[in-house]
Amino acid sequence: MKQVRLKDKTFRISIPYDEISTAIDKVAVKLNNDFRDCEDIPILLCVLNGSIMFLGELMKRVEFNCQIVSTKLTSYEGTSSTGRVKQALGLTADITGRRVIIVEDIVDTGNTIVELQQILAEAGAKESRICTLLYKPAACRKDIRLDYYAMEIPNDFIVGFGLDYDELGRNLKDIYTLVEE
Ligand code: IMP
Ligand code: MG
Repeated sequence: MKQVRLKDKTFRISIPYDEISTAIDKVAVKLNNDFRDCEDIPILLCVLNGSIMFLGELMKRVEFNCQIVSTKLTSYEGTSSTGRVKQALGLTADITGRRVIIVEDIVDTGNTIVELQQILAEAGAKESRICTLLYKPAACRKDIRLDYYAMEIPNDFIVGFGLDYDELGRNLKDIYTLVEE
């Protein structure tokens, strides 16, 4: 079983890239069905840094004109959520009157998404939808509607495919789960 060591912790492979890729294919089909014939130019909002890899893969499959905008939110320290969401980088473009598709790596407690939807509403977005690669239903404490999600996962700490442990592991192509020691 493939394992990686990051700082003081060990992680073992749990979702190989092929599975991730197939799940992204399915999400892209849904997005394309919903937006293919639209007359506006929807925004794909990259939530830095975790969403970089998912956004890159998703973009390759998107078949409608879109614009990329980024923002950076942080809430994690080590392997757990602090419960406080900080906006470390504001929106990189004006989104007034625009439809925004939030592209997230993972919805965990749900705090980030709720905060983000509020930020988008205050910035004048016409609509915001959520598109997340991963969803941890057992950790989610908010009543939110996920418009698009690729995979549900158990309430374990993971790294890889953009997700990090203290900034390490984002470059891993597969997803790895923390091995409790
Ligand atoms: P939430 O606000 O608790 O929903 O968490 C959202 C953010 O926390 C995600 O966008 C990730 O960046 C980070 N996060 C949540 N769970 C994990 C995990 O298992 N590994 C790494 N980062 C995570
Ligand atoms: Mg994130």
